[in-house]
Amino acid sequence: MEHESTFNYAEWDVYAQCYDTLTRLRPYAEMIAEVANLIPRGAKSVLDLGCGTGTLLARINSIRKLQLTGLDNSPQMLAIAAKKLSNSPAKLQRGDLETMSDWGGPYDCVVSTNVLYTMNNPLLFLEHIRETVKVGGTIIVVTPKIGYDNGLILKAHCRDTRPDSFWHDPHRSPYRERRLIKEALGQSRLAKDMRTIAAHNRRIAGTGTFHFLTEQELRTLVHSAGLQLMDIHTTYADQNFLIVLTRE
Ligand SMILES: C[S@@+](CC[C@H](N)C(=O)[O-])C[C@H]1O[C@@H](n2cnc3c(N)ncnc32)[C@H](O)[C@@H]1O
Repeated sequence: MEHESTFNYAEWDVYAQCYDTLTRLRPYAEMIAEVANLIPRGAKSVLDLGCGTGTLLARINSIRKLQLTGLDNSPQMLAIAAKKLSNSPAKLQRGDLETMSDWGGPYDCVVSTNVLYTMNNPLLFLEHIRETVKVGGTIIVVTPKIGYDNGLILKAHCRDTRPDSFWHDPHRSPYRERRLIKEALGQSRLAKDMRTIAAHNRRIAGTGTFHFLTEQELRTLVHSAGLQLMDIHTTYADQNFLIVLTRE
C-alpha cells in the first residue's frame, strides 16, 4: 500500500491560511476535545505528528501541563501553531514524516489527527510510531473512513434533521458545495471562509493517492505494524475512525 502523494507541503502551506476555519465547526472541535481527553492520566510527554496549526496541542495544554512536541512539514501551519502555543512550553519542529528518521522520544503518548491518510506508506508511518512510543504507551490516531462525506460534517454542525441524502457529496458540483454551505452556515463570514476550506477539501477528496481506509484495512495495518488495538470507533460526525493503540 504505497502511493507517491501529489499533495506536498507547499499545498499544506496554502491550506494553512484558512485551516483554522475548521475549528469553528462543532464536529471538529468535538473531535479535538475527545482526543485530548483520551490522553492517559499518567502520561507526561505527548508527540503530535502532523500537528498542523496546533489546535490539538493547545487544547491539551489548556487542560493538562505536559511536555508537548509537534512535528509538521508545513512552515505556514507551524507559524500559526507557534502563535497559538506562544504561552506554552510546547516544542514545534519542522520535518517530513516520510523521510525524517528520528522523531525524538520515546514518548508516553503519540497522537495524530487526519495525517495517516496523507502518508505515502501508512504502514511505515505506524511502524515508526511504534518505535517512538514507550513500551506500554498510548497512541491515538484519527483518519477519514473510505467514503467519508464532508456534507455530513456540515449536517452535524448545524444539527439538521433532514435525511443524509440531502447533504451527501457536496463536492459533486461548485453549485452544490455553495448551496450546502449556505444551508449549514447561512450567509455568514464563516460560510464565506468555509467555501475556501471546501475548495481544499475537494482537492483532497480527489487526490487519488490518499489512503481512505475501510475498518478492516485499518485493523490489518495496525496488526502488521506490531501494535495492539485497544479501541476503534468513529468520530468527526461519524466520518473518521478514531483508534487507540498500545505498544506491548
Ligand atoms: C489535514 S492536516 C491535519 C492537521 C492537524 N493534525 C489537525 O487535525 O487539524 C494534515 C497535516 O499533516 C501535515 N503533513 C502532511 N504530510 C506531511 C509529512 N510528510 N510530514 C509532515 N507533516 C505532514 C500537513 O502539513 C498538515 O498540517
